[in-house]
Amino acid sequence: MRKPLVAGNWKLNGSTEMVSALLSGISQRLSTSRNAEVAVCPPFIYLEQARQQLEGGEIALGAQDCSDQQAGAYTGEVSAEMIREFGCRYIIVGHSERRHIYMESDAMVATKFDRVRESRMMPILCVGETLEEREEGRTQAVISRQLDAVLDRSGTAGFRDAVIAYEPVWAIGTGKTATPDQAQQVHAFIRGKLAGLDEEIAARIRILYGGSVKPENARSLLQENDIDGGLIGGAALKAEDFAAIVAAGG
Ligand code: 13P
Repeated sequence: MRKPLVAGNWKLNGSTEMVSALLSGISQRLSTSRNAEVAVCPPFIYLEQARQQLEGGEIALGAQDCSDQQAGAYTGEVSAEMIREFGCRYIIVGHSERRHIYMESDAMVATKFDRVRESRMMPILCVGETLEEREEGRTQAVISRQLDAVLDRSGTAGFRDAVIAYEPVWAIGTGKTATPDQAQQVHAFIRGKLAGLDEEIAARIRILYGGSVKPENARSLLQENDIDGGLIGGAALKAEDFAAIVAAGG
């Protein structure tokens, strides 16, 4: 049985005061009988503050990105190895905002995925199509291409300790959510593709859905067979909403 994961991607939001209030708000509201694992991914600069505040608790910490480089003259970059020092369990790679705003290629995302694994953390690999790609009937082709880049570099075994997040670009921050059925179809496609390579890995891997998940729609999404949790943007910035989404995970 796959343990659901609900992870908050805080994106470019936060201040020392906000991090402190949001983390204590979430901690207070989480039910002890919850089924889902919970993680938060604040901006890099707040990882140490979050690590201290979450120490000894049950909320895992993640980062939103890492460098494709390990060390050297790469101004402004932060390596996976550095992130590991701050107690992170997860690093998001290939978020659509990185792919589209910062022009990260499939190959760069695949290198980052590998860096996270080399540093013994779990990548949360984001994949997803744009509205145009969906309307042209290319959803599966796009997701296959994004997965193949990682498979080419890390092999199927690379997915042994990894998480995938399906985030249709048209549903991110738009208030438009994929219907549970639309999401389930893509999740089943992803799991099926991996099952063709390794059934055990495919059965074990958690595939999260992301894109305008809110307390109102979380339950119907999370009850689908192949949806193993959520990657939450806007609603992760409100303790009450985030805790309600975690509760919807069972
Ligand atoms: P929203 O939940 O704000 O649509 O963002 C989703 C997302 O991009 C999570 O990584």
